[in-house]
Amino acid sequence: MSIKTLSIYTFRNISEAHLTLSPFFNLITGENGAGKSSILEAVYFLSHGRSFRGSILEPLIQFKQQKTILQAVIITNMDNEISLGVMKSLVEDGQIKIGGDVCRSAAELAALLPALLLNADSFDLLTGGPAFRRQWVDWGLFHVEQSYADLWRQYNRVLKQRNAALKKGASSIVTCWDADLAHLGEKMAQHRADYIEEIMPLCNGLFARFCDFSFSFQYDRGWASALPLLDSLQRALSRDLHLGYTSVGPHRADLGLRIGDKPVQTILSRGQLKWLIYSLKLAQGILLKQQTGKRCIYLLDDVPSEWDERRQKVLASILRDMASQVLITGIDLAYFQALTADLPTKMFHVEQGVVKEGDHVISISSESPMQGDPKNRIGPLCGSIL
Ligand SMILES: Nc1ncnc2c1ncn2[C@@H]1O[C@H](COP(=O)(O)OP(=O)(O)O)[C@@H](O)[C@H]1O
Ligand SMILES: [Mg+2]
Repeated sequence: MSIKTLSIYTFRNISEAHLTLSPFFNLITGENGAGKSSILEAVYFLSHGRSFRGSILEPLIQFKQQKTILQAVIITNMDNEISLGVMKSLVEDGQIKIGGDVCRSAAELAALLPALLLNADSFDLLTGGPAFRRQWVDWGLFHVEQSYADLWRQYNRVLKQRNAALKKGASSIVTCWDADLAHLGEKMAQHRADYIEEIMPLCNGLFARFCDFSFSFQYDRGWASALPLLDSLQRALSRDLHLGYTSVGPHRADLGLRIGDKPVQTILSRGQLKWLIYSLKLAQGILLKQQTGKRCIYLLDDVPSEWDERRQKVLASILRDMASQVLITGIDLAYFQALTADLPTKMFHVEQGVVKEGDHVISISSESPMQGDPKNRIGPLCGSIL
């Protein structure tokens, strides 16, 4: 899975850009505020149907414009080319197209274009709440286990109904949902346990390449380990009625990582935590490839230039072994370029929303003569996909 071409229209400070990407390394440089993260955000948006900087659409669309369009031609692991397009507008319904056909759900985009992001917010995976770790596990399962997305949706639908009944204090309705919730919840928890068992040795193996620590893990499935979920739900009924929500189940799961008997967050330095986060995310790409043959795209925002030479080499060598497409941003990526020089690597430079590949301008700045009514602008340009 890789992106062959990427077109961006009126997205953040990028008026228009057309990038032909390397299937391996793509290094994007530029000063602070130039538009580097916006390029990664555009890829992330194409792969998730939403941004990593929040769910509100307006800030993504270029100031004074009403819509944004992102397009890509991707190459699948069967070597087929497929066109993808997403249009989001402040004044009309958005649209997603895959291979020219309108598609209803962003989940189809995600299935076609698995992408993993590493940026400053990735610290949440270790220092944020349990939801971040559940998301990490669920990302892997969505891509690896075909039935998981349906299971997840069904579970959350039933949970919503049970919670609504709890809020009303309707205990007889609450208990009507218990059997379904327990059945779906047990299955979800088992999938998560299997995924964690499988991925943890990979994570530890990668982490060992960065430093001498190894960590253990503890998966809390979200209810007492000795009890079936149905029993746990029944025992928690009076508490749940009091709280107004369901207090047990896989929606409360967490994953603890420890060194000795201490949580990793209390032992490792910030730099070491970063290596651990990289290990956790890189392992997901390796497992995805092992289990499905799919390669995910890595979006590395502001690759830590403060990393020492040894760790930069480790990172580059892990990425090389994975042979995935990587988009890396940084103010100065000369050190990284030297490590990837023997592989197909493309350099892009961004200045005030204008993207250049080598010496060629491949985007048009916001002062472009094409400005005007966005409908007139975007229509002919994007006619083939949207
Ligand atoms: N909706 C928008 N329209 C136009 N410019 C925007 C919009 N949202 C953010 N910007 C600007 O886009 C620029 C690019 O930001 P970013 O991609 O984060 O830069 P970098 O990663 O290179 O530091 C910033 O200068 C920001 O002020
Ligand atoms: Mg940035």
